[in-house]
Amino acid sequence: MEKGIFITFEGIEACGKTTQSKLLYSYLIDNGYKAVLTREPGGTELGKKIREILLSHTEEKFPKIAELLLYEADRNIHIHNVIKPKLEEGFIVISDRFYDSTTAYQHYGRNIDFSIVDYLNRLATEGYKPDITFLIDIPVEKAFERLKSKDRLESESIDFHIKVREGFLYIARKDVDRVVMLDGLQSIEDIFKQVISILKNRNIIK
Ligand code: TMP
Repeated sequence: MEKGIFITFEGIEACGKTTQSKLLYSYLIDNGYKAVLTREPGGTELGKKIREILLSHTEEKFPKIAELLLYEADRNIHIHNVIKPKLEEGFIVISDRFYDSTTAYQHYGRNIDFSIVDYLNRLATEGYKPDITFLIDIPVEKAFERLKSKDRLESESIDFHIKVREGFLYIARKDVDRVVMLDGLQSIEDIFKQVISILKNRNIIK
């Protein structure tokens, strides 16, 4: 069976990962690749409803375990409806966030035990792993400068986002073969050139 390639973009809020995901998608389509651009949370119709719950401000308590379970539910639905079928059809699947975000936000940010987050990540992904992950790193102060309006997660304290950023950096150091760190303070064009050159060097694209 033809097998596709799974590429993810990760990072804190406003790091530029959505811009880079879109640029890569356009580049791949323009160069004749079969590609799909998706995201978490909200890469499916059901997932869009979960995203709305996760990111809206609410008066009610929103416990961190409920938050974790909703991210994982979104992910499992995403695997079944988009990631698995598209990879099986030989597509290059680009996802704006995947399980590293849960490790960074719910483990490092919210302090939920790593064993719980890791177990649920594995349960939800059913063995699907990115072939390569681009982590776009920027300082939290820079992210806050870039943010215009703030959703529920973006409204968390600067300390929370510092822990999340440190979490992402730790994930990158632990998994150097998969995770490529890019300096998000560079221009959009320079970051994109690096994305393409790394994908070429790894023979993911020609
Ligand atoms: P986005 O704004 O990049 O689409 O991401 C939505 C928000 O959800 C962002 O604040 C990061 C957060 N998030 C988590 O806390 N855990 C997760 O597993 C994912 C995928 C996102």
